[in-house]
Amino acid sequence: MFLARPDTLLILLATAAAASPICKLTPLDASWPSPLEWASLNTSLSGTLIKTIPAASSCYPSNPFNSTESCSAVSDNWDLATFHAALPEGIDYPIYANNSCLPPGAQGYVEDRGCAVGGSPVYVVDARSEEQVATAVKWAADRNIRVLVKGTGHDMNGRSSGAYSLSIWTRNFNSIQMNANWPVPGSNSTENVAIVGSGNIWYDVYSAAVAAGRVVVGGGAKDVGLGGYIQGGGHGPLSSQYGLAADQLLQATVVTTEGNILVANGVQNQDMLWALRGGGAGQYGIVTEYVLKTYPAPATIVSGNLELYTTGLDNENITAVWDAFAVLTRSIPDLMDAGLAGVLTASTGNVAVQSMASTAAISPEGVLVSHGVFGYNMTAAEMTALMEPVIASLQEVSNSTLNITWSEPITYSNFIAFFNSTNTSPSGAGQVSLMSSRLLGRDQLSNRSVADVSSYLQRIIPGSNKTAGSLLIVGMQAGPGPASVPEDMRGALNPVWRSAYIHAIALGAPMNATANPQEMLAGAGDWMNENKETIWREWAPDTGSYMNEGNCFNTDFKHDFYGTSYDRLLEIKRKYDPSESLFVLTGVGSDEWDYNLNSGKLCRST
Ligand SMILES: Cc1cc2nc3c(=O)[nH]c(=O)nc-3n(C[C@H](O)[C@H](O)[C@H](O)COP(=O)(O)OP(=O)(O)OC[C@H]3O[C@@H](n4cnc5c(N)ncnc54)[C@H](O)[C@@H]3O)c2cc1C
Ligand SMILES: *[C@@H]1O[C@H](CO)[C@@H](O)[C@H](O)[C@H]1NC(C)=O
Ligand SMILES: *[C@@H]1O[C@H](CO)[C@@H](O)[C@H](O)[C@H]1NC(C)=O
Ligand SMILES: *[C@@H]1O[C@H](CO)[C@@H](O)[C@H](O)[C@H]1NC(C)=O
Ligand SMILES: *[C@@H]1O[C@H](CO)[C@@H](O)[C@H](O)[C@H]1NC(C)=O
Ligand SMILES: *[C@@H]1O[C@H](CO)[C@@H](O)[C@H](O)[C@H]1NC(C)=O
Ligand SMILES: *[C@@H]1O[C@H](CO)[C@@H](O)[C@H](O)[C@H]1NC(C)=O
Ligand SMILES: *[C@@H]1O[C@H](CO)[C@@H](O)[C@H](O)[C@H]1NC(C)=O
Ligand SMILES: *[C@@H]1O[C@H](CO)[C@@H](O)[C@H](O)[C@H]1NC(C)=O
Ligand SMILES: *[C@@H]1O[C@H](CO)[C@@H](O)[C@H](O)[C@H]1NC(C)=O
Ligand SMILES: *[C@@H]1O[C@H](CO)[C@@H](O)[C@H](O)[C@H]1NC(C)=O
Ligand SMILES: *[C@@H]1O[C@H](CO)[C@@H](O)[C@H](O)[C@H]1NC(C)=O
Ligand SMILES: *[C@@H]1O[C@H](CO)[C@@H](O)[C@H](O)[C@H]1NC(C)=O
Repeated sequence: MFLARPDTLLILLATAAAASPICKLTPLDASWPSPLEWASLNTSLSGTLIKTIPAASSCYPSNPFNSTESCSAVSDNWDLATFHAALPEGIDYPIYANNSCLPPGAQGYVEDRGCAVGGSPVYVVDARSEEQVATAVKWAADRNIRVLVKGTGHDMNGRSSGAYSLSIWTRNFNSIQMNANWPVPGSNSTENVAIVGSGNIWYDVYSAAVAAGRVVVGGGAKDVGLGGYIQGGGHGPLSSQYGLAADQLLQATVVTTEGNILVANGVQNQDMLWALRGGGAGQYGIVTEYVLKTYPAPATIVSGNLELYTTGLDNENITAVWDAFAVLTRSIPDLMDAGLAGVLTASTGNVAVQSMASTAAISPEGVLVSHGVFGYNMTAAEMTALMEPVIASLQEVSNSTLNITWSEPITYSNFIAFFNSTNTSPSGAGQVSLMSSRLLGRDQLSNRSVADVSSYLQRIIPGSNKTAGSLLIVGMQAGPGPASVPEDMRGALNPVWRSAYIHAIALGAPMNATANPQEMLAGAGDWMNENKETIWREWAPDTGSYMNEGNCFNTDFKHDFYGTSYDRLLEIKRKYDPSESLFVLTGVGSDEWDYNLNSGKLCRST
């Protein structure tokens, strides 16, 4: 009988195991690195390795993790996004980290559940250089340890957290450099660009750009980060003018889980550049720097608001307000082609009552519509002239029974002053987050009858609790900008963005915050699939959804989030992350894995 030498056998076994381990490692596994090995990793990272200390630990008997944050400070700040952004492990929606260590008073707090690292990463690298990122991720990938990336932690679907992982925190990649004459690789031309660290927030980039007389396509809230926002697409106040943020990407510096530091642009690593242009966040590598196109700052920005509701209780009143809402929605593509952008919100139930400026009693069967519009280099009179025919058609539907108010538009001469006016309260956190998104174009809006659109709107808005009410957010964020992006700037971004006008978000899933997170989220996801995705698919079968603000339990996420880009993205994912260390919900290839918040395990599902 042939006896293999023991070391050969070990190598063979190790190779077989490494080829396709069933689960990512957990600290209960014998091969999980010892404290000494982590300490030696820390040394090779110049001491930037942090062992996770749940911030709210001080709220529990004997402060099990010795947190230095006071319990009252953690409780007081838990509902602020900036607080979580500043914590190594912090994310805005802690349910995706299994509510592992909540402070008293937080939504979902259950006293006897105690405090654990749970669904948070076990270690975090507060990275300062590409080399540190490369060392850390290769070390983890070689050991079959899950890797993730956090910029701000704002992700709506908890994709910057995960149990038993090593997290790369990018907040110190925060340089900003404006360059009016950046030589575009592979061409003899230059571009006016912003060269920005991936850990920046948009407010800081806007400020630097405006100081140079420029603007960039970025987010609608001050503290949204660049990292995941750009890779998922990225819409905002300028996207309907110039295309999404992903369409502005000329070059990225990215570290792969094999430990390679790559520059992806038009002449090298083009497949990586293509994937980062809207192919999904946190899946292909860790981006440290982006080079983004900039545009001249608008001379003026004008902002107006239209409000629509009924106080009547008769069927006529209810039909009129929904029909008027449909008329307004059908007019959006034309308004956008004429240069308007903005966001419309439609609310019902208590959500409507709470967002009313006045104390008028809105009909419980009706809807409150608030349509904020803005336009660049446009006078207030020009904006009102664009809106007048729309208002006239609303009045026609109303037959004098609806409250229709057009407020005098306000003109700003500075983009930051305008942006500030849309950011009057700080970004919230600490709640349960789950949403459903759809991209809709002329085909689903202007080309349908008022009755059709009215019926879809009435079916898509309702939440699981009628008294609580619900909200539909209609963003005028696609349209002429995405449609006119030059071919050579287009990447993996779901091509349905090119013919879409609006990105609509529906909410309202049942959320029992104190229930078991895994079961609650799965149940709410099922509710979304049954009550929202089916209606969206009936209204707009061939479009898709915006993955950064979409349903992370969408059973058809490959089609809806990635469209025709999916197959190529899967090849690129396999090429650059062969160890599949970077897992995120609804990521490319994520259907081959199963992540369970109860066990914390990430295992192959096939
Ligand atoms: C208050 C608020 C307002 C928002 N407004 C808008 C808006 O106007 N427009 C819009 O399009 N979206 C908006 N969003 C959604 C936003 O696009 C997502 O929350 C997005 O994930 C934010 O990216 P981030 O890097 O800040 O978040 P993070 O939670 O840090 O990261 C999100 C994802 O990106 C990955 N990631 C982060 N950095 C990197 C990196 N450097 N390299 C590789 N992967 C990385 C993470 O692993 C994770 O998967 C908003 C969200 C919030 C909470
Ligand atoms: C890493 O080293 C730094 C500097 O010595 C230290 O402050 C930090 O606690 C260490 N991290 C871990 C996880 O031990
Ligand atoms: C917290 O501090 C105590 C006392 O110094 C120590 O015994 C304990 O190990 C520490 N716990 C952790 C999780 O570091
Ligand atoms: C997640 O939370 C549930 C409910 O509290 C708990 O039973 C489970 O152990 C937690 N999982 C992890 C990985 O901490
Ligand atoms: C750049 O200019 C050089 C010299 O004029 C020319 O040979 C080359 O073809 C140009 N390259 C491109 C991409 O236009
Ligand atoms: C607004 O006008 C300025 C010139 O005053 C121009 O540079 C800029 O491109 C215009 N912006 C938009 C969005 O039209
Ligand atoms: C508009 O609302 C007010 C209450 O705020 C009400 O008095 C008025 O009659 C309403 N107008 C119409 C046309 O419904
Ligand atoms: C408008 O209201 C008036 C008075 O209430 C009514 O006579 C008329 O039929 C209504 N018109 C339409 C088109 O509903
Ligand atoms: C509701 O509709 C009826 C019938 O058209 C009308 O008489 C009434 O004034 C409307 N109510 C309100 C508050 O507009
Ligand atoms: C915008 O708001 C910030 C605070 O977030 C403030 O510091 C800044 O002065 C404001 N800028 C303008 C132009 O209003
Ligand atoms: C809208 O309908 C017209 C007429 O039927 C058709 O020609 C056009 O292609 C449609 N537009 C879209 C975007 O579906
Ligand atoms: C529905 O919402 C109302 C108002 O927010 C609340 O009082 C009620 O408890 C909720 N019902 C259920 C079943 O959650
Ligand atoms: C929410 O979940 C908790 C824990 O499972 C349960 O005790 C409670 O009854 C649930 N509440 C509702 C309104 O379903």
